[in-house]
Amino acid sequence: MKIKIAPSILAGDFATLGETVRRLEENGADYVHCDVMDGNFVPPITFGAQAVRAIRPYTRLPLDCHLMVTRPASRIEEFVKAGADIITVHVEADRENVLENLAKIKAFGVKASAVINPATRAEELFPACEIADMVLVMSVVPGWGGQKFIPETLEKLERIRSHCVRIGRPDLDIEVDGGVTEENVKDILAAGANVIVAGSTVFKAADMAATIARLRG
Ligand code: DX5
Ligand code: ZN
Repeated sequence: MKIKIAPSILAGDFATLGETVRRLEENGADYVHCDVMDGNFVPPITFGAQAVRAIRPYTRLPLDCHLMVTRPASRIEEFVKAGADIITVHVEADRENVLENLAKIKAFGVKASAVINPATRAEELFPACEIADMVLVMSVVPGWGGQKFIPETLEKLERIRSHCVRIGRPDLDIEVDGGVTEENVKDILAAGANVIVAGSTVFKAADMAATIARLRG
């Protein structure tokens, strides 16, 4: 499976976001991971669709928008219009409408993804595996960069990849987000993830291109 590296601009310089995403593209990133936090679903506030629109002209890379927001359905269209290529909604933000929210994203011609928190069981992501373009497994409590990878995530990834095989979607993109380092990435890839979010690891690197290359395992 193709391994994709999605650096999170949360760990980058917010004063020069355009330059930040340009630099990610130059250094071999596959996606630009945009951590949208609304101060409600998670305590911090980061940025919204306006910032996504502002960085859009600085890169051809897909903008992978991780919406840590309540009532995600009401936000989808503004991120589509801002230029998002992938939109990820939290199962916990709207448990009753996960499939509807994915369908809504897809109807705009944008890739749709669902995500579960560390406290949410893998099974809650299974229905989404049927129709999503990607699924995301949080390996830290969402809200902050620079946390430690929760080791139980590995077993969750294995169960989700096995489920994808079982339902005839063995190549579904499975993204992992939080605490990924050059040391633990091999286990994460072996467990079944193939899209790797990395904030601190990429932005604190002495050589960003080399670090992104090494994160490919
Ligand atoms: C956490 C965010 C992550 C975070 C990853 O809420 O969703 O994308 O920025 O940062 P690191 O790689 O530093 O854990
Ligand atoms: Zn994220």
